[in-house]
Amino acid sequence: MDMHRKISVQLEGRAYDVHVGVGLLAQMNGLIEAIGAVTSVIVVTDPTVSEHHGATLRAALAAGSSPHLAAAVWLQLPEGEANKTRPNVERIWQAALEHGVDRQTLLIALGGGVVCDLTGFAASTLLRGVRWVAVPTSLLAQVDASVGGKTGFNLEWGKNLVGTFWQPSAVVVDTEVLLSLEARQLNAGLAEVTKYGVAFDESLLDLLEARADEVRLCEPGLMAEIAARCCAIKARVVQQDERDLHVRRLLNFGHTIGHALEQATGYQRYLHGEAVAIGMVWATRLSAEMGLCPPGHVSRLERILSGFSLPIALPSDVKAEKLMAAIASDKKVVAGELSFIFCHGLGNAAVGVLGLDELATRLSAASSARSRY
Ligand code: GLY
Repeated sequence: MDMHRKISVQLEGRAYDVHVGVGLLAQMNGLIEAIGAVTSVIVVTDPTVSEHHGATLRAALAAGSSPHLAAAVWLQLPEGEANKTRPNVERIWQAALEHGVDRQTLLIALGGGVVCDLTGFAASTLLRGVRWVAVPTSLLAQVDASVGGKTGFNLEWGKNLVGTFWQPSAVVVDTEVLLSLEARQLNAGLAEVTKYGVAFDESLLDLLEARADEVRLCEPGLMAEIAARCCAIKARVVQQDERDLHVRRLLNFGHTIGHALEQATGYQRYLHGEAVAIGMVWATRLSAEMGLCPPGHVSRLERILSGFSLPIALPSDVKAEKLMAAIASDKKVVAGELSFIFCHGLGNAAVGVLGLDELATRLSAASSARSRY
């Protein structure tokens, strides 16, 4: 029998469990009932996720002892990062208000990072805060977006510029749902798994290397072990620094260049995890050039990421100036200096400071090296 692992996120007054296992979606009634009484339930999802997993969740809710679970209202939002917008938050507010939201209403996010972020934000603002449960269905959301209570939506000026910290009442990670993911989405999630290995726990990299074939096949038991390890790291980090003031920033390893690349390519070319893969290689190479880690780390990381068909090099058509323009609007830039996450050895990332001028010089050098080939 597959194990049901429970990782507790210990935050004062807002502690919750992350449940990780195979087939948990079918047990959602019990997991929801464990968090307390509800008077109404709104399930937020998207069309693809609903097609694959809606029936399982509906059946589980119908099997619950509370009639409010079976009577849940379902709302489908359009999928994709471009739809992580305020109008879609308003649609959640509207659905809740039309169905008589009160303080015991529960929102359930059944979907990837977009659905989780929008639902969490709507939950944090309705009646100044109602409970929500995250049921992430992409690997990326299972290992990152759903744990830790960052919610929000995008504006024309950039990603996640309006948001809240609002912890869920539970997170349910069912790795069986990953079997319906396209390979490209799975691989993008594996970039974030690799990030946990580089930044916090080298033995995760050993596991990804030793069992790469099973990982590529998305074997649910193994994926549950991997997701549980990532969620345990994230829980530990969030417990120490819920508001992203120090150690939580390490979760952004590879994200400075990754975000800039996403922005510079209009969010069209790369999935988030793909851009982060390139960003991690770049950050590790920079760390090696600065003598912070051995150059061999770069090639090991490149091998792991390429093994999951992830990109590892900056594209030759995106100029350094364009990346720098995107980085200049980064939330992490203060007075011409960027707080940047360096690799001080595998499993050991640390925040450091990088001048924007130095970064521009290094990116230009990389860019002219690329154009020579
Ligand atoms: N995704 C990074 C964090 O939750 O802090």
